[in-house]
Amino acid sequence: MADEDTGEPGSDETEDGRVSVDIRSRLALALDVDDLIEAKRLAAALSPYFGTIKVGLELYVAAGPTSVGYFAEAGFDVFCDLKLHDIPNTVERAARVVGSLGARWMTAHTSGGPDMLRAAVEGLAEGAARAEMPAPGVLGVTVLTSDDTATAAELTARCDLAADTGCGGIICAAPDLEVTEPWADRLVRVVPGIRLPGGDTHDQARVASPGDALIEGADLLVIGRMVTAADDPVAAAEGLVASLLS
Ligand code: C5P
Repeated sequence: MADEDTGEPGSDETEDGRVSVDIRSRLALALDVDDLIEAKRLAAALSPYFGTIKVGLELYVAAGPTSVGYFAEAGFDVFCDLKLHDIPNTVERAARVVGSLGARWMTAHTSGGPDMLRAAVEGLAEGAARAEMPAPGVLGVTVLTSDDTATAAELTARCDLAADTGCGGIICAAPDLEVTEPWADRLVRVVPGIRLPGGDTHDQARVASPGDALIEGADLLVIGRMVTAADDPVAAAEGLVASLLS
């Protein structure tokens, strides 16, 4: 991702005659629901727009590893957003399980430190090797988008940590894309807190529009309530994609 595009969404290839393959590959749907049936229904309706499904804590607690395997087998890249933060041994063992499920990404807090991040990377690789699957990458959570107190120095230290410990990418808020730009060739930058202008920001303190986040260098946008909490999620997804094409 970080090395194969210019940051501008393309529209040359199309899927369903509507959504460019490039745009779809840059959009992750956050299935923050507590019911796998509802999650499957949303994913099926929204699959023309989203190449990645994010299984977050709520769905994972409700439905467990089955949810990750289901969406991977359905052809999505699965982003297992467990935001691990524990002793290295525990993280490694949990990551080993995630590595065997067919996920593409798994999150861990960079504040957990170098040993914990390396344990996450190694655990994923071991689990994937055992299941004869490609190893998922670790996405290091830098600063939550609900947090507007962290400094640029903290952010750059966490990017260094992610790169040095073998993480495949980071999660950062859109306003942090400028500070994290020096790592763009080494770390995929995944950005939550995406809202269309005038939309409800919910509990996100630092938000950006989808177009601005891509132009600023985001590789993958995490789209949650902007679509999932809309009265008509498909119409909201169409509005999102239209905003990227205008
Ligand atoms: O609904 P909304 O678009 O605010 O969803 C944001 C999603 O991104 C949630 O699933 C949340 O857990 C996740 N996230 C975040 N900020 C981070 C990392 C992940 O909001 N730094």
